[in-house]
Amino acid sequence: MMIRGTTRVFGIFGHPVDHSLSPLMHNAAFRGLGMDAVYVPFAVAPVRLGEAVAALRALRIAGVNVTIPHKETVLAYLDEVDAAARLIGAVNTVHNRDGYLVGYNTDGTGLIRSLAADLAFDPAGKRVLLLGAGGASRAALVALAETGAAWIGVANRTRPKAENLVAEFRDHFPGTDFAVLDLAASALAVVCPSVNLLLNGTSIGLKGEVFDALPWQQLDRAAVVCDIVYRSPDTPLVMTARSRGHRATGGLGMLIAQGEAAFRIWTGQEPPAGVMRQALAR
Ligand code: ATR
Repeated sequence: MMIRGTTRVFGIFGHPVDHSLSPLMHNAAFRGLGMDAVYVPFAVAPVRLGEAVAALRALRIAGVNVTIPHKETVLAYLDEVDAAARLIGAVNTVHNRDGYLVGYNTDGTGLIRSLAADLAFDPAGKRVLLLGAGGASRAALVALAETGAAWIGVANRTRPKAENLVAEFRDHFPGTDFAVLDLAASALAVVCPSVNLLLNGTSIGLKGEVFDALPWQQLDRAAVVCDIVYRSPDTPLVMTARSRGHRATGGLGMLIAQGEAAFRIWTGQEPPAGVMRQALAR
């Protein structure tokens, strides 16, 4: 890749950002299409986020991804936030349209795409057990409800957070029934026989931790399992699910799908099929 005076610059704001896989994915897609563009990491301290966003305009940076800890705070600095991102309350993609900054959230759509591509699963009319009530679970809940999930049960260690999450969205999605559950085997065992998708939005598994509150025996044999946590090798949750005969996927497919969606927003072009996945496999 040759950087010239005409090269368009994209990047990611995070803190830390060293371990981000997004530069690998996007630069591979630019190369694949022969585009005169580059994607670079920017370590932005929380107190400097406002300056960093202003710099997008000053430096005419064409677009950035936004990751932890800036996804929620960045909204205040943008000119426009698309409806889905506003509902989730988090932005992971910023598009610089001639100095006018528009925020999007491609995490939710990435999840839905990954469920389709990696598990052949469509949430419409389905029952979902969602573990966790943090930022990742929030984006998942909105995307699942928007896609027409019939029932979403939220189980969280800190129960009031699950209650708040459900209370916030219950009226917005009248077509979806919501429930709050204790993150305990006895409580989960009651719903597991009728669950179609088990989705982990907690950080359990990130470092290889095992979920001990899961009543695997009770989970419907046909249920599929998705772990938003991305880890290589797979998380114990994904490995156990597969060993018990469930179709299961980790967060890699979602990571790729959210990147592909951001790429489309920025460039109006489709990233070459499989290129982002291949870049991560190397
Ligand atoms: P993110 O934005 O990635 O979702 P977060 O907002 O910090 O991160 O949320 C982390 C989620 O993982 C929360 O649901 C958290 O549960 P609490 O709300 O009770 O903190 C959950 N979590 C993290 N470690 C956990 C553990 N050891 N056991 C159970 N839940 C855990």
